[in-house]
Amino acid sequence: MEIKSAEFVISCSDYRKCPKEAFPEYAFIGRSNVGKSSLINMLTNHKGLAKTSSQPGKTQLINHFIINKNWFLVDLPGYGYARSSRESRKKWAKMIEEYILKRENLINTFVLLDSRLSPQQIDLDFIEFLGENGVPFALVFTKCDKCKQNELAKNVSQFKNKLKETWEELPLIFLTSSEKKQGKETLLEYVEMVNKMYVKKA
Ligand code: GTP
Ligand code: MG
Repeated sequence: MEIKSAEFVISCSDYRKCPKEAFPEYAFIGRSNVGKSSLINMLTNHKGLAKTSSQPGKTQLINHFIINKNWFLVDLPGYGYARSSRESRKKWAKMIEEYILKRENLINTFVLLDSRLSPQQIDLDFIEFLGENGVPFALVFTKCDKCKQNELAKNVSQFKNKLKETWEELPLIFLTSSEKKQGKETLLEYVEMVNKMYVKKA
């Protein structure tokens, strides 16, 4: 898919204040600092579209971007930021869970995982939450440029094995690097295909 336009729409803390559910929507979620905002900028060819930072906890709200004037891309705050208080973690969980469960046009959630790490419980727990609630998702390994080939293969295969303990079918998996623009075409082709199915259904 060619990205012809990518524009920021609104930041909000409540799914009720998100834009009208007029277009198919894709959210990016994962641990704080995993590279959600950077991936959004890489996919849209737009360096400063989503705010990035080397410090975790940069994205704090639900951020909507409209792409090609016919689909939404959503940048979410990360989970598992060690320095956040219990209170703010609770607030995060409520904001995100409500958004994920109630946003009707959300057709896919991309769960981002740091390719350098072995499976982390916090990610597995979040995936379980999606599964229990029947929320469609795909996995995206990030920062592949920082990971040796054999290490990447090991981490991906360990993650698959963990999922196989509870899932019959594995989700789609994308390997990406925002630094090297790896995975861009594949991920956008997937969005294009799902968008077409969404239009057919409507
Ligand atoms: P929060 O908004 O805090 O939850 O973080 P985030 O997941 O949006 O991460 P962000 O995109 O802000 O990136 C965090 C850090 O990782 C930044 O310093 C990025 O430059 C770096 N980073 C992100 N993606 C990549 C990548 O593919 N390769 C490399 N080498 N660095 C990356
Ligand atoms: Mg961010």
